Amino acid sequence: MSVESIKKVAVIGAGTMGHGIAQVFAMAGYQVWMRDIAQEILDRAISRIKISLEKLYSKGVLREPPEAILNRIRTTLDINEACKEADLVIEAVPEKIDLKKKVFSEVDAVAPKHAILATNTSSLSITEIASATKRPDKVIGMHFFNPPVIMKLVEVIRGEKTSDETVNIIMDIAKKLGKEPVLVNKDSPGFIVNRILFALFHEALWSVDSGEHTVDEIDSAARYKAGFPMGIFELIDYIGIDITHQIFQAMIDRGVKFQIPKTFEEKAKSNELGVKSGKGYYKYPAPGVFAKPSVSIKAGVKVDIIRLVAPAINEAAMLFEEGIASKEDIDKAVKLGLNWPMGVFEYADLFGIDTVVSALEELRKVRGMEIYEPRKILKEMVERGEVGRKSGKGFYSYRVEEKKFETIIVKYEYPIAWIILNRPKKLNAINAKMLEEMEKALKEIEDNKEIKAVVFMGSGKAFCAGADVSEFKDMSGVDAFLYSRRIQKVFEIIENLTKPTIAAIHGYALGGGLELALACDLRVAASGSLLGQPEIGLGIIPGAAATQRLTRIIGEGKAKELIFLGDYIAAEDAESIGLVNKVVPPRELELEARKIGLRIAEKPALSLLIAKYVINYGKDAAESVGKVLESLGFGLARSTKDAEEGIKAFLEKRKPKFKGE
Ligand code: COA
Repeated sequence: MSVESIKKVAVIGAGTMGHGIAQVFAMAGYQVWMRDIAQEILDRAISRIKISLEKLYSKGVLREPPEAILNRIRTTLDINEACKEADLVIEAVPEKIDLKKKVFSEVDAVAPKHAILATNTSSLSITEIASATKRPDKVIGMHFFNPPVIMKLVEVIRGEKTSDETVNIIMDIAKKLGKEPVLVNKDSPGFIVNRILFALFHEALWSVDSGEHTVDEIDSAARYKAGFPMGIFELIDYIGIDITHQIFQAMIDRGVKFQIPKTFEEKAKSNELGVKSGKGYYKYPAPGVFAKPSVSIKAGVKVDIIRLVAPAINEAAMLFEEGIASKEDIDKAVKLGLNWPMGVFEYADLFGIDTVVSALEELRKVRGMEIYEPRKILKEMVERGEVGRKSGKGFYSYRVEEKKFETIIVKYEYPIAWIILNRPKKLNAINAKMLEEMEKALKEIEDNKEIKAVVFMGSGKAFCAGADVSEFKDMSGVDAFLYSRRIQKVFEIIENLTKPTIAAIHGYALGGGLELALACDLRVAASGSLLGQPEIGLGIIPGAAATQRLTRIIGEGKAKELIFLGDYIAAEDAESIGLVNKVVPPRELELEARKIGLRIAEKPALSLLIAKYVINYGKDAAESVGKVLESLGFGLARSTKDAEEGIKAFLEKRKPKFKGE
């Protein structure tokens, strides 16, 4: 049998999924019988299909008028009539194993011998459903996503006895329907999408249950930090708290080691079940009416996004490790099925596999649950040093080159260059050698056209605890004057580098360390880090431009306070006075810098540079001169090819593609 021999299709069950699936097949030219147990259900299904077809037609999506498509769908209450000539039967009845088995045994008795029987189940075992038939080789999972007409993803699931022929035909049919099928090689609970999604739900529920975070905090982090299209609790409300509970239970019954928190058990038994009840984790305008809950960006700042997403990465790693699906299909599934902006393994590579493993180990301890045990494949990747983007290899490959100097490491993680201060035993204190090497590295980075942003960070337990005090010991006053000019000169190169610079601060940023960060365009800090200008305690004053840059950034009063008293201030306090742009949980520091770097890399490089220079040099001039400088810069920016592209893309309502020209 081949995909061409499939002409007639029967859909059993005309509910939310069934009627959508029938519509998808009819739109692709198939003759469809739709069967349900009550005429009202069939009538409602037809009228919903009609409305949807008319909408698509008015948008110009359909090649034929709605009636022509509708004419290919017939309805019946009789399972025999629906199936007797079918080449393919798709079952979409409620998720109850006994019901599904009954339907399959009935269909098996009446459908032609050659017919393939597919189930749209999202959580039950294909093998068990197939056991109700005499043709398990022709039984398969074909899991559409809601709404089937819009969602491109179809999970094709092989039962224990499903033949290759059946798999190939269903993969081909999905493509003929204009869908993007992914192959699930083993009948594993939750298949790809639900397994990964529910691991995310699981951690979110426990994190709220344990009092670590609120619903708002988690949803804010999910939306604004991870970039998911919906908050986690918002999505649970959307699916329905009872249905979510039911899917959890189905997976647990099939051996997945999730544990449902008591608070969620109770909620699933209440009458606040989400959007359909008008209330769940959020309030909605009326039962069944969804309105996007508003959550602030700020609410999620303290949530460790790597820890929140790590369990989902762990389940994805399990799917890959056990040969249930390919990594490409897993990533495709979350992108198309959940609308994630990137694949789950792309997240893993971005976060760093080592960081993901450490987050899982922490969760394993805190929650005491086996599900958090990091998968072997992740641990082995860490052992091999394949830890994602930063190492050049993780689940995918990246271009990374490393250059080791005596006191710094320069990592070209295209399009970002990392300058890593590497005197960890001396808390990365800046000595003459480091200044010399930094100058050299900056020259190389400046000349490298493919580098679009530069991040400074420290190795070991601090960003940088300042200039190396031991070098001050035998310095004369004149030596100190020249030394100060020298460090200022190197920091000026940083300040006016043609690429945006970011300081990623952890531990300490003190004295010259903070002054290095001040020379950067942006500063992000890990919570728990301390910043200060303690020179006064040594009987001296700052010499790497804090009196100037710090004053400009935080104002004279605050700058004097820091310089006169020499106190260390916490990252959060530094944020509140504008000394750092953002404070993130320690595990996220590198990720945050990387994310900013990657975002900057997408911007028009010349206009970024013009903006930087207008700001940097304009502030030294009278305001009227600064304004003229801005106008000149504006004119210059307008003359770039990227400006042509940006303006054109806006008018064409598409995302611009900047080339740095
Ligand atoms: N210059 C030279 N060496 C420095 C240094 C600096 N600015 N900051 C730290 N170190 C060295 C320490 O001397 C120590 O070296 P050792 O192990 O050989 O004795 C090592 O780095 C580790 O520092 P330590 O002081 O043991 O760590 P800690 O956690 O106890 O204290 C600080 C951390 C930051 C509070 C402390 O190191 C400090 O006060 N440093 C100086 C900060 C300063 O005044 N900077 C401005 C200089 S202009």
